Amino acid sequence: MSKIPHFLVIPFPVLGHVNPLMQFSEVLAKHGCKVTFLNTEFSQKRVMAAAASSSHHHQHSKNNSLIKTVTLPDGLSEDDDRSKPIEFIQSVKSTMPGKLPKLIEDVNNGEGQDSKISCIVVSMNMGGALEVAQKLGIKGAVLFPASATSMASVACVQRLIDDGIIDPETGLPIKNEEIQLSPDMPLMDPAKFAWTTLGKSFFGPMLQEAQTLISLGQWWLCNTTYELEPGALSISPKFLPIGPLLPDEQNSSSSFWQEDQTCLDWLDQQPPRSVIYVSFGSLAVMDPSQFKELALGLDLLDRPFLWVVRPSNTNKPNGSYVFPEGFKGEKGKIINWAPQKKVLNHPSVACFVSHCGWNSTMDGVCSGVPFLCWPFFSDQFEDKEYVCNVWKIGLGFEKDENGVITREEIKEKVEKLIGDEEIRERSLKWKKMVMDNVAEGGRSSDNLKKFINWTKE
Ligand SMILES: *[C@@H]1O[C@H](CO)[C@@H](O)[C@H](O)[C@H]1NC(C)=O
Ligand SMILES: *[C@@H]1O[C@H](CO)[C@@H](O)[C@H](O)[C@H]1NC(C)=O
Ligand SMILES: *[C@@H]1O[C@H](CO)[C@@H](O)[C@H](O)[C@H]1NC(C)=O
Ligand SMILES: *[C@@H]1O[C@H](CO)[C@@H](O)[C@H](O)[C@H]1NC(C)=O
Ligand SMILES: *[C@@H]1O[C@H](CO)[C@@H](O)[C@H](O)[C@H]1NC(C)=O
Repeated sequence: MSKIPHFLVIPFPVLGHVNPLMQFSEVLAKHGCKVTFLNTEFSQKRVMAAAASSSHHHQHSKNNSLIKTVTLPDGLSEDDDRSKPIEFIQSVKSTMPGKLPKLIEDVNNGEGQDSKISCIVVSMNMGGALEVAQKLGIKGAVLFPASATSMASVACVQRLIDDGIIDPETGLPIKNEEIQLSPDMPLMDPAKFAWTTLGKSFFGPMLQEAQTLISLGQWWLCNTTYELEPGALSISPKFLPIGPLLPDEQNSSSSFWQEDQTCLDWLDQQPPRSVIYVSFGSLAVMDPSQFKELALGLDLLDRPFLWVVRPSNTNKPNGSYVFPEGFKGEKGKIINWAPQKKVLNHPSVACFVSHCGWNSTMDGVCSGVPFLCWPFFSDQFEDKEYVCNVWKIGLGFEKDENGVITREEIKEKVEKLIGDEEIRERSLKWKKMVMDNVAEGGRSSDNLKKFINWTKE
């Protein structure tokens, strides 16, 4: 009897890691693998609450007998603040790995001889679990929920220090100069590497984490394709592009906000390729003056728009946005959270005003919709660089002397993009190239099989 691969999947407990690792788990299950998915007790409660509050949501694992969810505490109490990244990372790191050996033993005791846990897949900050894996003789891999380019920057962090590009203490650039991680990659600004925003006390642990993942992660899986980021993928033979991993179940979603499905009926009523879709993802926070310009810019455009304005930013006491005086929004629909893939694949959508997080960037590429890039932090600037200057399927906005993207700039760039046939054609070309990767016999699809085969060895 052949062995059934059994994965223990361990995301760092934030939405941006839990969702993609759950999706990856579903893909593994579709390939006949068993998955034990480790959530924190806190995240699990939120996922269950979101599922219960919506008829469109259901919990992933309920419908899939191959995926079982288990939980461990994250070291904080119910009411503790989880929004301070450094404290939160520290708490998770010092709590969860220590409890793993017992958890693994319990899980394995419930399994037959042929389906004990054979591989642990983690996201960044959970390298401690790979140390446990190594001690127990279990294989280890890492899944990066961002671009191969940001994965490459993590893998290169020691080299950046050795080459005198970034400061070993702080991770901040020593010189004000753009660099290339490899000759085939776009220029990058070392001041915008993901770790620079989190401060000095974050960099040391992050450097250590990178070393752990490099030495113990056999594969660094990434939701991308060779064509999209050839230079970044050439940096290490461990890098394995397996994307775009598309959840095949229509309803599959574990987002913490409820998706507003009514926008699909609204889109049905709009002319083909007319709607400006605006969403800045789950994290970005816009300051009030910029929010005002955006609102008035959408009015000025005089086109239908679908705008995602999150109900509140839970990190702040008063996170709700206030719409500016004089804002009409007559042609638009404003919603709290969108079923983004369905929206982007709707024939009424003309363009995507996006923060360019990797998830959204891939969603846009996969649907062949041109971009207007509005990056907020870290890798979003790199993603914008690819969209605008490498793949050439979008435009960026210029800020004025006060650092604001004005309503006139918004109107001008949106009009320019919508009128650009070449960008539209290229968007469709990239869509095809990317989707071919996940078709049977495609490169990403083969990589995934190769990865699963490896765990059986
Ligand atoms: C990615 O986008 C989907 C919407 O298509 C959303 O449900 C999910 O939470 C996003 N993931 C992250 C990491 O933000
Ligand atoms: C998706 O949601 C709809 C509406 O709640 C439901 O009728 C349908 O059965 C769900 N589909 C799947 C595959 O779960
Ligand atoms: C937050 O909202 C409350 C109630 O609307 C208001 O009284 C308070 O002044 C607001 N605080 C800030 C910092 O805006
Ligand atoms: C991979 O990218 C696709 C396309 O945007 C996205 O829908 C999916 O959530 C991503 N999956 C993971 C595991 O990051
Ligand atoms: C994976 O293993 C199967 C069965 O042994 C084999 O047929 C297939 O060619 C392998 N696929 C890859 C991509 O290595």
